[in-house]
Order: sequence, then C-alpha cells, then structure tokens
Amino acid sequence: MVFAAIQNPPAADLPGAIAALKHQRKAVILAHYYQEPEIQDVADFIGDSLELSRQAAATDAEVIVFCGVHFMAETAKILSPQKTVLLPDLEAGCSLADACPAEAFAAFRAEHPDHIAVSYINCSAAVKALSDLICTSSNAVDLVNQLPADRPILFAPDQNLGRWVQRQSGRALTLWPGSCIVHETFSEQALLQLKLEHPDAEVLAHPECQQHLLDLADFIGSTSKLLHRAEASPAESFIVLTEPGILHQMGKAVPHKAFYAVPGSDGCSCNACPYMRLNTLEKVWRCLDTMAPAIELDETIRLRALAPIQKMLEMSR
Ligand code: 13P
Ligand code: SF4
Repeated sequence: MVFAAIQNPPAADLPGAIAALKHQRKAVILAHYYQEPEIQDVADFIGDSLELSRQAAATDAEVIVFCGVHFMAETAKILSPQKTVLLPDLEAGCSLADACPAEAFAAFRAEHPDHIAVSYINCSAAVKALSDLICTSSNAVDLVNQLPADRPILFAPDQNLGRWVQRQSGRALTLWPGSCIVHETFSEQALLQLKLEHPDAEVLAHPECQQHLLDLADFIGSTSKLLHRAEASPAESFIVLTEPGILHQMGKAVPHKAFYAVPGSDGCSCNACPYMRLNTLEKVWRCLDTMAPAIELDETIRLRALAPIQKMLEMSR
C-alpha cells in the first residue's frame, strides 16, 4: 500500500498560506462567532447560524470550508450539494444534536401526530428530515408566530430556547428535553458578582441560557443580534452570557466599549464550546490542502431535510 506523505503546514504565516490555498481551491471560508479569533480573522464571512446558512446557499465558490460544528457544515451541504463542504475537524459535534437521536425523535413525532414539528437548526440531517420547519435562535419567535394558531407545536431539541420562544410568542410548545452544555454552565453567582462590579453594564444573553439567567438579562438574542445590540446600545459596557468567541467581533466593532464574559460554575472555562474549539488554524490549512474531511450525505435524507430548511429561509426573508 502506498501512503501519500502528510504535508506539514508552513511554520510561518499560516494565514497567508491559507489565503493562497483558498484561492487555488476556489474556496470560501465561513466561520461562526464561536470560533477562535485567529480563525475568524481568516474567514470571508462570520455570522450566526441563519446568516451562515444563507451564505452557504448563495456562494458561487466551489468549496466551502465551514469553521463551525457538524450540523452547520451538514446544513451547508444540504443547501449546496454540488459543492465540496469541508469541516476542519469532523469530531466538532454539538450536545444539542447529540441529545436528539433520529429514532427517538421519530417516536416523539409519532406520539403527537397532529403537531407541527419545529426543530432548531442544531440537530442532525436525519432529524431535520423528520421536521416540518427548521428555525435558528434569530428567527424562532418570528417563525412560530407565523404558524396556524389552531395547530399544536413540537419544539426540539433545545428546551431553554423553546421555553423562551414560548414566553415570547404566547404559544404552548411541547418541548424536547435537550440543552447546550455551554449555555447550561454559566454561573448565576458570577453573573451577579459582575453586575455588582459593573452596575452600568448591560447584560446580553443568548436564548439557549437557562431561564433564571435570562430573567437577569437586559437583551436576549442570537449571536448576531447580541453583536448588533452591543454596537447600537448607548451602554459603554456589557456582561455577555454566551460563548466568549463572540467577544472578538464585539471588541472589533466597538473597541471603546468593555465586555465581560461570564464564567462557568466554579470559575471553569467550560463556557468555551469544546466542539467549536476543536477547529484550529492548522486544521483549516490541512483541510484545504487535503480536501478532507468532506461532508457526505445520503441523497434521500438530504432532499427530505432540504424542504424544512427552505421553508425557514422563505418564511424569514
Ligand atoms: P446562533 O448562531 O443562532 O446565535 O446560535 C448559537 C449556537 O449555539 C450555535 O451553535
Ligand atoms: Fe452546540 Fe452549544 Fe456548542 Fe452551540 S455552543 S455548538 S449549541 S454545544
């Protein structure tokens, strides 16, 4: 057997080497706000889950390097099957997607045959294929508000987001009991301490946080909405309840403002998403060099998953 020699990335100027390879491969680099700052800095586009889906559908690049987690790269492949979609580390999963296996979700649906199934985009292609409508944290309330008032709704897999959507829309939702390991970790004690130290700071929170933390927030929204709020708000300082990767763009957008990340319980750094952080600049270079790992999908599943994603994009124009 002949093995191809594994190339080492250039020791100097890795961002420059990535830019050259990207040009050669006719690739675009999409990155979520939760990626390491050095990855965000080589990306062509940085966004939240909805914006990244739109970019993946619209790009005319031949290759998409998705610097995010597996369900995001999978969504890009569902929307753009003719493109090569690369995920720098194939192990970059998501606790929400893991919490909702397709077989169990199919049984959940079968128990509620009259319900509309709305699934958060943080789920597998197989679960999307079993759903009526996909949503993200930025459009969930708006989409649920558009559903017929006489139809009951299932919401999966994030119960915290689901409860928030329930409160905002006034619609009763039957919730799947999943949650994000990152957003469940924030310490209320640390948040209260930060509020004491910075009494004028505005508290920005992602709706994946638990309700007792959302109750202490001044503004709740998707990562992009939190970033835009930091820019538009008259406040000069912010306490941020989401993955701290977002602080990089906040600091760039309004460098004169101050941002404080809330730590996890016991002061641990478990507020950093362990899945997102599996991607590294070196792995971004390597996936462009080897054109692997690439996302592959069964075509029947892809077509079934495409319908509720397209419905989301149409309903959230
Ligand atoms: P948004 O990208 O919708 O803000 O969601 C954050 C998240 O947890 C992505 O995994
Ligand atoms: Fe999944 Fe949470 Fe990580 Fe987002 S932050 S990818 S929801 S585990």
